Order: sequence, then structure tokens, then C-alpha cells
Amino acid sequence: MLSRKASCDSHGQDSSYFLGWQEYEKNPYHEVQNPNGIIQMGLAENQLSFDLLESWLASNTDALGLKRNGRSVFRELALFQDYHGFPAFKNELVEFMAKLRGYKVAFDPNKLVLMAGSTSANEILMFCLAEPGEAFLLPTPYYPGFDRDLKWRTGVEIVPIHCSSSNDFRITACALEEAYQRAQKLNLKVKGVLVTNPSNPLGSTLNRDELNHLIDFAIKKEVHIISDEIYSGTVFDSPSFISITEAVMEKHVDHETDLLGRIHIVYSLSKDLGLPGFRVGMIYSNNETVVAAATKMSSFGLVSSQTQFLLSNMLSDKKFTSKYIKENQRRLKKRKDMLVSGLRSAGIGCAKSNAGLFCWVDMRYLLRSDTFEAEKELWKRILFEVGLNISPGSSCHCSEPGWFRVCFANMSQETLKVAIRRIEVFAESSSSASGRENLSHQRSVRNSRRSLSKWVFPISSYNDHEPADR
Ligand SMILES: Cc1ncc(COP(=O)(O)O)c(C=O)c1O
Repeated sequence: MLSRKASCDSHGQDSSYFLGWQEYEKNPYHEVQNPNGIIQMGLAENQLSFDLLESWLASNTDALGLKRNGRSVFRELALFQDYHGFPAFKNELVEFMAKLRGYKVAFDPNKLVLMAGSTSANEILMFCLAEPGEAFLLPTPYYPGFDRDLKWRTGVEIVPIHCSSSNDFRITACALEEAYQRAQKLNLKVKGVLVTNPSNPLGSTLNRDELNHLIDFAIKKEVHIISDEIYSGTVFDSPSFISITEAVMEKHVDHETDLLGRIHIVYSLSKDLGLPGFRVGMIYSNNETVVAAATKMSSFGLVSSQTQFLLSNMLSDKKFTSKYIKENQRRLKKRKDMLVSGLRSAGIGCAKSNAGLFCWVDMRYLLRSDTFEAEKELWKRILFEVGLNISPGSSCHCSEPGWFRVCFANMSQETLKVAIRRIEVFAESSSSASGRENLSHQRSVRNSRRSLSKWVFPISSYNDHEPADR
């Protein structure tokens, strides 16, 4: 019944990233009503600073009441349908973006196109820059949603740039070239590289060497760079964030390369302000043709006028935004430190991170074997026996089994404590079980279940649908 496009399975919904969410929804943890339920740690949401936003709203009732200087703007907003967006809102957005980058770079509101979130912005860039069957290179591990956002409706292919734990998953010139050659062998024309900076799922910022490799590569191969900077306001520790724009400026790239016209930034307020429900995203591009095409396409996913009105009021309060950015980063760091030290006490390490809403956690020693089957087995145990939904590295296309993304900002501190306690008990029971020689795997699983009896769940008859290339 469905068209080929609607039924095309490159959406990625069979990935354990989405399957984990489904399991969570069947049995969500609640402190009182369902204390044995699953804790959602697979969702990169920022709920840590809602009180700051709410207190701003409480003292700025005009903004929420759709009033300007006490007079209703309801009719004006209800009729507004210019797909260029409110100039006042775009001015505030570029100012906010510059602020997050320490005013080292300035942005022009005429080069900004509003979109319904970064999801929409990334897809529209694919439509603008690539034909179906052409490719973008993405460093692994990458955000699982990119399979849907970049490939599904556009027909564009993703070719992974394999990064490795041996250098903290950093992007190297070699890895870029290797991915390019692999794409060529597959007869795929490479149109560009897409990075997330700071990285989801690594939780770290790209360093200057990585940015320089990207720039050199884009010049040499004459391809685009898309930098998804959706987490730019979450950088809570040194080294500080270097935007692709700043890196290009500082490298004094020859104008004849026309590199600037091939650099596009994606941003949204979903993470930094914790407002994914408001659907505020954007493309920032130096390329006039891309800006014009993306503006036309934005008709399919505009930002509502009342959202633009409310947020342009909020962002124009510079005292508030300065306080918010600083306090939000402080809270994120505190949370991240809490998770890292909890995991450390359970004998589990994390990749060093300085940003984001998650940690990239190394559970390789808990694997039965060094395979993705063993990773999936561990993921299921953590989901059903321990009651935590975390994202396995395979759903982020990581090339090494045993890594997991664990989110820490979408829950209360108390819930995070419960999650950490569960992991501690699990790690302890797993390592003592594996230390006992001559004990069959079956028995060790039984033992660990016994000590986890407080939150034991039946392992459902679970269908494995992991896509083959993961
Ligand atoms: C790297 C990255 N890009 C894009 C998105 C989508 O964000 P939005 O809510 O703005 O569509 C996410 C959300 O998790 C993300 O992590």
C-alpha cells in the first residue's frame, strides 16, 4: 500500500536506539509508581535548567501572553506567514550564536534560514547539496538519528569515517582519505563531510588538528563541510569550543578555494536551551544559492510565529542569556562528574569529555566476546535486567564493540543516583561471575540476575533487527 519512499527501511527505526525507547515506553521508571521500571538514559534531552527559563517567563508575562508593551500582538502573529522568519528573531539568534562562541566570530542574519529543528535543517542541506545516490562522509560513532535525517527521504548515502578508541575517536587525515577511497570503490560521489561539534555521542569538542584536517580535506577534494553545532552551548569544560567558522578564519584559507561557500552550520535550540518541543533550528550558510534554496524548502517546516515571538523576547534579554549559559554549563558539568565518578566506582571508564548531555562509556570488559553480538547481548541485559535504556555503540555505527552512550541530563538527580546504584550492582555481579572459573555463562547470568532481583524483568521474546552494516 505504501509508496517505496514511505516504506524504505533506511529510516533506521529497527536500530536498538529506537527499540530501547519502545521498551522504555512500555515500562517507564517512576520513583513511587514504578520504582522497578526502566530508566531512560538514551535520550539527549536537557532538563537541568527549566527553572531558569520558567522564572524568566514568570517575570516576562507579556512574552508568553503575546503582548508588546502591554498590547496584544495576537492578530499580527496569527497572520504571519513569511517564510523568511521574523527579522528580530533572526537578529537575536545570530547574536546568541556569537555569544556562545565568545564573540570570536560574527554571523549575518541574512545568511540564516529558520527550520523546524536541526532534524529538518540537516535533511534540507542534503536535498540542497546532493543527488540521490551521492554520499556524505560521517565520522563514527555518530548520532543514530542521522540515518533517518540524512538518508531516508533524500536517498543520499552515508559513508562512515572509521575513528578508533586508540586515539579517542579523533578524526585523522588518514581516516578521511580511507573513507573517501571506500566511497569511490562503491561508485559513490562524495559531496561532503558532516561532523557534529561537540560530538554526539562522544561528548567532546573537535580539536584544532581535527578541524584543520577537515578543512584541508574539503579544499583538496572540493567538497562541502556541514558542521552540526547543536551542542555548542553545552561546553562545560576546557578545551573551549572552536566553531568551524573560527577554524577557517584562523587558517587564512585562500579565497580562491571558495571554501567559505562550501561551509554550512546547523544549529537549534533543542539542546542548549532544552527546547526540542519548540522546533527551532536553522541553517547558516555563506553560500547565497544554498540560502535561497533552503529558504524555499523551509516552507515545509517553519518555526511558528508565537515561538519566534516568545524566544526573540527571551534572547533579547542579554543579562538572562549570559546567566543561563553559565549556570546551565555548571549544572551539566556537575551531572557529568556525578555519572563519571559513579561509573568509576563500578569499575567502568568513560571517554574524556567536555560537552554534551551524555558520556561515551567503555563497557568492553563486560562483553562475553569482542563482537557486536556480545554488545547486543549486554545491551539487552542492561535494558531488561538492570532497567536502564542506554544506546549501544553499534546504533551509533561505532566500529568497535563495547561502547555505550549514556545520557545524564534528562532526569532528576535522584533518578541518576538510582541508575548509578543499579550499574554498580550489575558490574559487581558481572565481574564476580566472570571471575569464577568453570562457571558456565548460563549460570553466571542466573547469579547476576539473583543479585539484581530488585529490578528483574522478563527478557521478552525480542526480535533482532539490527541493520547489517552496524
Ligand atoms: C547531533 C544532532 N543533530 C540533530 C539533532 C536533532 O535535533 P532537533 O531537535 O533540533 O531536531 C540531534 C538530537 O539529538 C542531535 O544530537
